[in-house]
Order: sequence, then C-alpha cells, then structure tokens
Amino acid sequence: MKFDRSKALMVRAAKVVPGGISSNVRANWFPHPMFYERGRGARVWDVDGNEFVDYVLARGPLLLGHSPKRVLDAVHKQIDTGLMYAGQCELAVQVAERICELVPCAEMVRFSNSGSEAVHAAWRLARAATGRRKIIRFEGHYHGWYDSQIWNTAPPLAAAGPREAPLPVPATKGQVASDAENMVVLPWNDLDLLRQTLESQGSEIAGLITEPIMCNQGGLMPRPGYLEGMRELCTKYGVVLIFDEVITGFRVALGGAQARFGVTPDLATFAKGMGGGFPVSALAGKREFMQLIGPGGVLHAGTYNSNPPCMAAALAALETLSADDGAALKGMAQRGRRLREGIRHRVPGVVIRGVDEIFHLSFGSDPDAGDYRDQLTRDTEKYRRFVLGLQEHGVRVVPDGIWFLTTALTDEDVDDTLAAVEKAAGAL
Ligand SMILES: Cc1ncc(COP(=O)(O)O)c(C=O)c1O
Repeated sequence: MKFDRSKALMVRAAKVVPGGISSNVRANWFPHPMFYERGRGARVWDVDGNEFVDYVLARGPLLLGHSPKRVLDAVHKQIDTGLMYAGQCELAVQVAERICELVPCAEMVRFSNSGSEAVHAAWRLARAATGRRKIIRFEGHYHGWYDSQIWNTAPPLAAAGPREAPLPVPATKGQVASDAENMVVLPWNDLDLLRQTLESQGSEIAGLITEPIMCNQGGLMPRPGYLEGMRELCTKYGVVLIFDEVITGFRVALGGAQARFGVTPDLATFAKGMGGGFPVSALAGKREFMQLIGPGGVLHAGTYNSNPPCMAAALAALETLSADDGAALKGMAQRGRRLREGIRHRVPGVVIRGVDEIFHLSFGSDPDAGDYRDQLTRDTEKYRRFVLGLQEHGVRVVPDGIWFLTTALTDEDVDDTLAAVEKAAGAL
C-alpha cells in the first residue's frame, strides 16, 4: 500500500500547520498522519486511493457512518433556509425534547459544540449548585483538552505516585498547577477508596465525573455495583454526579450508559454520538440543577450553540437511531459481537474488553483490569504491528486499541475485516 500523496501533503502541511495536524491526538499514526478524501458508510478512502473499512470513524462521531443520507438531507434543507440567528430555532427545542425522552437523567438540555465545552459547563454548574470547588475525577479518564480538564488522562506512573492517591499530572506544557488544587484524582473501580475520600473531604466536593465505561483507556467496564455505589455516595454527600457520555451516549444504548446500567446521574455530557458527524454537544440533567443556568445565575454561552444546521443534524441522527425501537443500534451490536468473536478466534492472546458497540483490543494485558494502572502492562509494540498489518489489508483502526463501530457496518464489512484480521494476526 502506498501513501505517497499523504506523505507529500503532510510535508506541505507541516510548513503552515504545527505538526501538520489540527489536533495533537492525530499525531500517533503509522507511518505518519494520513490525509483522506472521501467516506461512505463504514468505508473511507485516503488521498492515495486506498480503501479501508473504518473503525476510527472520526473517533466516534460517525456513529451513523460516513455521510449518512438522512442527516445530510436534513442539513442541506436547513442550510438553504438559514444558518444562524443569535436567536432560538424550533429545531433546538425538538432535539432537547428528544434527548429528554431518551436519556434517564435528562429533564433539561443545553447545547454547545464539543465535548470539552459540555464538560466545562457541567463542572461550573456543579460548583454553582453546591457552593463547593473540588471535582473528583479518575486516573486514565479523558474529559477534554481544557487547562482544568486534561490532568491524569494517561500519566506516566513515575509522575503519578501512589495508586491510592495519585498526584496531579498535567498533560501539556502551559497548564498551571493551581488548577489541580480544585481536583481530586482517584483510581477507578475502587468504591472503598471513594467512600473514604468522601468521608474525609465530602464537604469540599462539588462534583464527581466519570466515563461510565472507560472507553479512552483500555475499554474497562465498571465492576458490578460500582456505579450504583458511586450514585449512593454522591447522594449521601450532596455531590453532583456527572456521567461523561461523550462516547457512550446514544451508542451503548439509546439512553446512553445510564440507561444500559440503570444508574441515573445528576448531569450528563454528550457529543460524539449525537450529531451524525456534525460538531454538536449537550449538557443534560435534572431540572433542579439545569435551571440554575440562565435565570439561575450560571453563565453558559457560545456563538455557535444550537446553530440550526447542527440541530438539524442532531435531530435527524437521533430520529435515525431511535427508529424501530433502536433497530440500528441493535444491528450494530449484533455485527459487533460477530466481529469480537471472530477476532478472538483468529488472534491468539488478544484481550478484548468493552461492549459489542465499542470495544478495546490489546495484547498481554489483564483481561479483568479494573483501572488505568492494571491495563498498562499491555504490549503496545505488538499492537502497533497488528495495526500496521490491518492497515496493509484495508482495515483502519485507532492505534491505541479502541474500535469504534457504526450502524452502517455491513456483514460484508465484517467479513472483509475478519479476513484482514486473520492475515495481520498470521504476520505477527
Ligand atoms: C469521554 C470524553 N469526554 C470529553 C471529550 C472531549 O470531547 P471534544 O474532543 O469534542 O472536546 C472526549 C473526546 O474524546 C471524550 O472521549
């Protein structure tokens, strides 16, 4: 497979765009960041004409696949009518109503444009509602790239210190240490430690944020009873429980992970599953908290919030997903199951965690890993070779192990993927 045009574009881009890429997350690609030209369904084509079954899917937003027709039709119709008004549009009310129907915690909704923004709003609201300042977060969870957010997402252990009380570790130069004063970092899946922390510091904790499935690192599942225990403790100590459903939302169930696990947070953030590929996010939650925004004195703003084309996209995406009692997601889960099982049979020693709708592959790591540190034993070099083999045979995956799925995935896509998996595994 040749990547000559991608390489030439990368060299050209690097002269005018730092690193040649517009998000640092795209740097980690083999043999170099690639350029793409078009996509359709579950397939994507790069600028050299190579075709791939795509399990990157823009890292999640393409839940309905590349260029989903119903979403595009709705957006086309809207952009012919009007782009933005710095005023409200009925579409935003419809999307909010639909989210309130689908998501257990959602009684009110505010829109923004990215997951980071939605998390930012959730934390502000938690602080305003409680009059407290600290947020509990978990080692290895990702909640966005803002200065206050990007701590301990993938910390080197030498910097992070003891497991029971990780030290704050920034992810980038330019972050200020004082931001970490408002944060408590804990290992995930350890209910006793959470209880002890809340017993000693509960009166200072405004909110607790968690990915309900640890999608960004290792595809780890919550231990039985963990999310339920978290819910009870947050209620007991008056802490606002926030589920970051930027990945799990509208994907692992129509109502998100909270519907799948039957645990209802106070607030939840959504983005990647809701816009059919358009940049839109939401903060949804219980009325007692949400109504503090606006008339209640908590500022939430943004020029592009609830812009009509993105609202049209979100409405079409949510209608597509909820049609026929969620048939699209069910079909995706079935194909995901076949894919997982097919991979398991063809790749000796592979560890697969997560759920049928989104899962994580690795080699040499603990299948029962419960937190960030447990899964660090994985053999990243071996997985890198596997990813290169898959790419050579027409399958594109995220280099760090997560496999995103789309409702557009067909049986033929799965067959082609498994054939590629077999060849890539054989070459390992
Ligand atoms: C769980 C989670 N929260 C928040 C974010 C931030 O979203 P965005 O990149 O849209 O700002 C991400 C992005 O990957 C995410 O996975």
